[in-house]
Amino acid sequence: MASCAKTNNTKQNSTETTDQPQKEIKMTDSNKTLLVFFSHTGENYAVGNITEGNTHIIADMIADATGAKTFEIIPEKTYPQDYNECIDVAKKELQSQARPAIKEDIDLTEYDTIFLGYPNWWGQPPMCVFTFIEAHDWDGKTVIPFITHEGSGMGGTDRKIAETCKGANVAIGKGLAVRGATAQNDRETARKTVNKWLEKL
Ligand SMILES: Cc1cc2nc3c(=O)[nH]c(=O)nc-3n(C[C@H](O)[C@H](O)[C@H](O)COP(=O)(O)O)c2cc1C
Repeated sequence: MASCAKTNNTKQNSTETTDQPQKEIKMTDSNKTLLVFFSHTGENYAVGNITEGNTHIIADMIADATGAKTFEIIPEKTYPQDYNECIDVAKKELQSQARPAIKEDIDLTEYDTIFLGYPNWWGQPPMCVFTFIEAHDWDGKTVIPFITHEGSGMGGTDRKIAETCKGANVAIGKGLAVRGATAQNDRETARKTVNKWLEKL
């Protein structure tokens, strides 16, 4: 995993949740719950050439179980399908803290709970996720992060989300982290993990 630096998260399991004291997470009815995610397809060093991204798979499982409407963050300029080219673009974006334009947006006013999903890119959500976050007012909303990764887990990305979603109650330590390879190749395990996590929430 030459290009995938490990983050400071020490848990290396295929799935992971961490419990830390914080405000109660309240999920209201599914009409007020939205699931927003970014997921990349193409060449993936761990699971080969994929047509459905790992995070997308987990997003669908959460949406199936909760009835939440989904919204996919799609950058105007899609990330390259070639792994090394994607790494190059992602690295430049991270270094410059870019906010790449996204194709569409969604009005969050009517939603009070937002599941927010993304892959772990060097301990960060991809920069296009920040483009989405910074375009919205998060005051009073509950945000529940979920991530796919290949060893780094949540990697503190929930805290970064909390810093950016100003005014939101972000479920720090209560998000879900699933290995991309589990999402892609062992869907039964992944679904069980998702459901167990949702029950706990
Ligand atoms: C640019 C880039 C950086 C990555 N960095 C990490 C990392 O630091 N730690 C990790 O565990 N996985 C890392 N990965 C692997 C992805 O997090 C993992 O394959 C994820 O499941 C991809 O989800 P997706 O198919 O929804 O995009 C990285 C992948 C890419 C493309």
